[in-house]
Amino acid sequence: MTIRDVQEKILKLKKENDICILAHSYQAREILEVADFTGDSYQLSVSAAKTNSKTVLMCGVRFMAETVKILSPEKTVLLAHPEAGCPMAEQMEKALISGVKKQFPDYAVVAYINTTAELKTICDVCVTSSSAVRIIEKIESDNILFLPDCNLGAYVASQVPSKNVKLLQGGCPIHAVVDVNDVKKAKTRYPNALLLIHPECTPEVVKHADYVGSTSGIMDYAKNSDAKEFLIGTELSIAEHLQYMCPDKRFYHLSQKLLCPNMRITTLIDVLNCVEGVSGDEIILDEQTISQAKKCINKMIELGG
Ligand code: 13P
Ligand code: SF4
Repeated sequence: MTIRDVQEKILKLKKENDICILAHSYQAREILEVADFTGDSYQLSVSAAKTNSKTVLMCGVRFMAETVKILSPEKTVLLAHPEAGCPMAEQMEKALISGVKKQFPDYAVVAYINTTAELKTICDVCVTSSSAVRIIEKIESDNILFLPDCNLGAYVASQVPSKNVKLLQGGCPIHAVVDVNDVKKAKTRYPNALLLIHPECTPEVVKHADYVGSTSGIMDYAKNSDAKEFLIGTELSIAEHLQYMCPDKRFYHLSQKLLCPNMRITTLIDVLNCVEGVSGDEIILDEQTISQAKKCINKMIELGG
């Protein structure tokens, strides 16, 4: 069986079984090709809220599938690979944040969408990397408690200096390990390339960027730019996708450290198994968690649009 045979089988079965496939931009190209919606975590949340299919299959990580379930509790929501989690989403427990909230009662609690459904139940609003600045600008409160990613939080604080942003010490273990030496080495090797960086990287790295944005933001910027060479400061998959999309341009990795094993764990065969009904981890959340977590995701969609 070729990749094309597997893809054709998936396309036929997802139609027959009324399954909508969502795939994050970090997924493999052969998975993106069979998806109904692809994009960054904000675009996937919005698409999830719109789909009419009975079943949604998320090719991405667990918090993304949870977000779909929260927005569409009547649907069957499957995570394509049961072990695809985001380590950042698991970093802060509800009990810890409840304690912090007591110390800062007049702060709005802003959760990066890379958090568990449970933690979202005690947060005021969610943000994604593409919507964070827009949303923080619109929040009424001037005092913001931002969790869990201190790097995204620092970037937002730098863009919205009128707000007092308190950061907690969490972050993405993949993006946060890229350092200024990686930037220097990459720039020496590719002196003409523009540097496009995800805001989960540290402020020291972000400082050198020509553009800072989400996965989709980076892709759109590169596609629309007149420049011919780009250094991509996010998961390795993005440079590869861009190279297929823009064959007349050149895309280089900022660092080989930018490989997210959780995003890479899902294969096309996993997707086939899911549409055949033999695998897929069904997301089950209790009603109370859904109704409380929904408030902060809905607030994100309301302010982020
Ligand atoms: P995006 O908001 O760009 O989709 O990022 C999600 C993520 O997990 C990045 O590491
Ligand atoms: Fe989580 Fe980082 Fe992987 Fe994104 S790249 S899914 S934030 S571990």
